[in-house]
Amino acid sequence: MKEAIVVKATDFAGRPQDLFINDVTQRKGVVMVDYGPMWREHRRFALKTLRNFGLGKKSMEDRILEEIQHTVKTLEKNSGQTLSPQVMFHNAASNIICQVLFGKRYKYDDQTIKLIVRCFAEMTKIANGPWAMLYDSIPLIRHLPLPFNKAFENMEIFLSHARCLVNEHKKTRVSGEPRDFVDCYLDELENKNDESMFSEEQLRRISFDLYVAATDTTSNTLLTAFLYLMNYPHIQEQCQKEIDQVLEGKDRVTFEDRLSMPYMQVHCDVIIYCL
Ligand code: HEM
Repeated sequence: MKEAIVVKATDFAGRPQDLFINDVTQRKGVVMVDYGPMWREHRRFALKTLRNFGLGKKSMEDRILEEIQHTVKTLEKNSGQTLSPQVMFHNAASNIICQVLFGKRYKYDDQTIKLIVRCFAEMTKIANGPWAMLYDSIPLIRHLPLPFNKAFENMEIFLSHARCLVNEHKKTRVSGEPRDFVDCYLDELENKNDESMFSEEQLRRISFDLYVAATDTTSNTLLTAFLYLMNYPHIQEQCQKEIDQVLEGKDRVTFEDRLSMPYMQVHCDVIIYCL
């Protein structure tokens, strides 16, 4: 244990390296890559950029609050009918991260975003299923037209979409005045030194990683919260009371208001624990 955690800490610091994932990601991006200079450089950059979200004129919170208006509209439009909260939350989380990354929000029925969501769902299924295992274990089958090829095709679809978005940014950006994550990365590329591992391909791949890392996690957390509140209506009622109190005289609750919402805070912790 000491050898793994202390003596050879850097050897064991990365994620388990899996051949299928490595071939699909080309060992680029930030989420699945091994511990090393590229991961460190990009992780630091991603954290700094996402944390400083004074990007453009809008903060991350403004973007969330704006998207919530669309979610509320969806709920109102479907009042009295059934709707899938999974799709609704997925759309909302996807749009918030798309605005942060690309400065772009998509209509919920936009065909491009529907395609991206479908591609990602298929990729996850393949990566966690038997075909990825067979790909890892039997070298002979890797070049055959088997279902795992769909994951490579889907990655290409995302990358070509990211290429279009990056090209659009290159045409409209003003150096040193970033509007979103892509602009920040392009600024960094402009000022990079010789050792830096920033590249346009890495930008496309890190965009994919952040999109994926942010969307399912956030929407599943919201889904769990919904399920929790549906199962415990008395807690839902208390939460609503607290929100109504804080809302008095205001049109919306903000992150700052969490300090006057101890009941909500406790139950948010319970929901995170349920995850
Ligand atoms: C409720 C929402 C979220 C949950 C539950 C969640 C959960 C996690 C977990 C469990 C990990 C693995 C940590 C590890 O292996 O050490 C992770 C990693 C990561 N998450 Fe999230 N996440 C959420 C939202 C987000 C969002 C919104 C973003 C981006 C905007 C994001 C970006 C990342 C990245 C880049 C990594 C990889 C970090 C690394 O390689 O060190 N996540 N997340």
